Amino acid sequence: MIDIARHDGPREGVRPLFELAEDSADELDSYIGAGDVLVARLGDEPVGHLQLVPGGRPDELELKNMAVTEEQQGSGIGRRLVSAAIELARTRAVRRMTVGTGAADVGNLRFYQRVGFRMSAIERDVFVPANGYPEGTVVDGIVLRDRVWLDLELHPPLTV
Ligand SMILES: CC(C)(COP(=O)(O)OP(=O)(O)OC[C@H]1O[C@@H](n2cnc3c(N)ncnc32)[C@H](O)[C@@H]1OP(=O)(O)O)[C@@H](O)C(=O)NCCC(=O)NCCS
Repeated sequence: MIDIARHDGPREGVRPLFELAEDSADELDSYIGAGDVLVARLGDEPVGHLQLVPGGRPDELELKNMAVTEEQQGSGIGRRLVSAAIELARTRAVRRMTVGTGAADVGNLRFYQRVGFRMSAIERDVFVPANGYPEGTVVDGIVLRDRVWLDLELHPPLTV
């Protein structure tokens, strides 16, 4: 039985989950403490997480990092984490949730579109050594360089 709840404890305790979705330790250090984190647990064991931080605009929240442990992937936990994040966002004055992900990772692009996000923009040359990413990472045969931004409109927009 999977339970999803806000994580109020130290973030370092769930850092291994963040590392599943972030190849740059410097980048991770810069944001791991920010925003809200939801953690999915199977019994006592953390099996997934999702972090929401303030977005680029006042009425946006960014889904900054999320992952599900390899053994539990594909069983619907990621979808449930996104639903829980939408519920949390709807209690705030938020109109839109955004997420940025590697253009090379077609699996992630499928996931985010299956849970309701739509593509909005491409940002080139983000996952490069200057930003702390290893040179020449290849995902699904594609060199990881560019970031795809997707967003999800939250209806109805609430003003709390
Ligand atoms: C991306 C991730 C969070 C998805 O979580 P998950 O629990 O495996 O996803 P779910 O089981 O809820 O899947 C929901 C839908 O997305 C699809 N999906 C999920 N991961 C997919 C993948 N890698 N390739 C293709 N489809 C995928 C599922 O097939 C399912 O589709 P369906 O509705 O047609 O059955 C998880 O695979 C993960 O942790 N990946 C490694 C870390 C990572 O890359 N995080 C994202 C960083 S931007």
